[in-house]
Formats: sequence, structure tokens, C-alpha cells
Amino acid sequence: MRLLINNVTSNVVKFMRFSTTILPKNESVLKQDEKESTGLHRINKNCKNPFDLFKDWYVAHQSPNQIASKALCFSTANKKGEISSRTLILRRLDEDGMVIMTDNRSRKARDLNENPYASMIFLWISMKDDLILSRQARIEGSVQKLSTDNMLEIYDAEPLFCKIRAHICHQGTTVDWNQMKYNHDSLLQKYEENQTGLPKPNHVVAYKLIPTKMEFYESLGQTIADRLLYVKNNANWDIIRLAA
Ligand SMILES: Cc1cc2nc3c(=O)[nH]c(=O)nc-3n(C[C@H](O)[C@H](O)[C@H](O)COP(=O)(O)O)c2cc1C
Repeated sequence: MRLLINNVTSNVVKFMRFSTTILPKNESVLKQDEKESTGLHRINKNCKNPFDLFKDWYVAHQSPNQIASKALCFSTANKKGEISSRTLILRRLDEDGMVIMTDNRSRKARDLNENPYASMIFLWISMKDDLILSRQARIEGSVQKLSTDNMLEIYDAEPLFCKIRAHICHQGTTVDWNQMKYNHDSLLQKYEENQTGLPKPNHVVAYKLIPTKMEFYESLGQTIADRLLYVKNNANWDIIRLAA
């Protein structure tokens, strides 16, 4: 028994020695001699409509071959109040809302059937004047399914792999990889031999989140962030500044 404890103790000591070499050093210790900076950041855009501010940030972070500016975290809750989040791509920005596309048979679609409210988070991190510019847009509101006509142009613009995925994947179900590969290759071959098109399947749906709240958070370098909350008030938006 003693031997066992001794062994355990010596293993713990070894681990501690090892872990001090692999764990990152405390940054505040590293920066002891450096002068820290601080400040209070201010969002200087004066927009009455939050969509103008959203567009401004969204466009500023767009780059042709990257999906990073369009990626968002989308949260839903079912009728039991169980919440789930996942990454989606913003497919279209309308005057009154943000459009996403998905599979009608997925968990998020089931949640939205039970509870048509959702939240989106966009996170955009970039560099400005050698400082880290952090931006978050947080959006909440009701969600409406778009008509097929209203979403067809989005589906038609999808790249080939997305259209094939729409045809062979039942989102969220258990799959056998080899079977999936076979289905993929067979459909691709048929498509390339012009034996089939890849029209939008009925289960591909688009939803629009129509915001009632939009909150913008921004900080630059080591500054205390600024937050602007827009709350829909009939046809207008009330603007409130919030503590970070
Ligand atoms: C960068 C990225 C973009 C994604 N875009 C979409 C999308 O536009 N639509 C979609 O249904 N799933 C998309 N997904 C997959 C989702 O995150 C998720 O796995 C899937 O929608 C199933 O979610 P659910 O089971 O909660 O319904 C994306 C994943 C990543 C990592």
C-alpha cells in the first residue's frame, strides 16, 4: 500500500514538474515590467437604423474567398426550453432580416417549428492600426420560413458540393460513410452525364430572422468595449448604450 502511495506521489510530482513546462506562463507575470494600456472605446457610427451599422461591419469584414464574415452562431430553443447552437452561413441580408438555409428535417428546424424565435451572433476579429479590433453583432427575433420562390435564387447559386449534399444528406441522421460515398459518386456521375439535374429538394428551406433586438459590441486593443443596443419600438428603434 505504502509503495502504491509512494508511486502515486512520485508520479504526481513528475506530472507537476512536467506540467510546469507545458502549461503557458501567466501573462500578467510576463508583462510585469511593461506598462499596461487602458481606455474607453466608443462606437462612433451614428446610425438610427441598426441594419446600417450591421451592413457597415459586415461589408468591412467581407473578403471574396472567405466565409468568415458570413459565419454566425445560430441558437434555437425547443418547447421544453432546451437550447442548441450551431454555426451557419448568412445566405442573404434583406432590409428587414437575415436569411439562412438549412434542412427542414434538422434539429434546428424542429426547434423552430415548436418555437419560432432565435438568436444569431456574428463575431468579427481583425487588426486595425496594429491593434485587435473585436466586433460582435448579437441579434434576436422571430423567424419566418421563406416561400420557395423567395429562396430559389439562393439555392441556384449554391456550389456543386452543396447541391449534391442537399440531395444525398438527411441532416442529422446516422450514416454509413461507404454508402454515402457510393451515393455521392453515383449522383455526380449521373449529373456529369446529363442524366439528372440537381433541382432544389423540398426539404431545403430558408428562414429569415426578423430582429427585434440588435446589439453591437466593439473594442480596439486594450480598451473597455462599447455596446449599443437597438430595440424595435413599432416602426422605430430605441438606442441604449450598455456597460461592457
Ligand atoms: C462554417 C460552417 C458553416 C455551416 N453552414 C451551414 C448552413 O448554412 N446550413 C446548415 O444547415 N448547416 C451549416 N453548417 C452545419 C451546422 O453547423 C450544423 O452542424 C447542422 O446545420 C446541423 O445542425 P442541427 O442538428 O442543430 O440542426 C455549417 C457548419 C460550419 C462549421
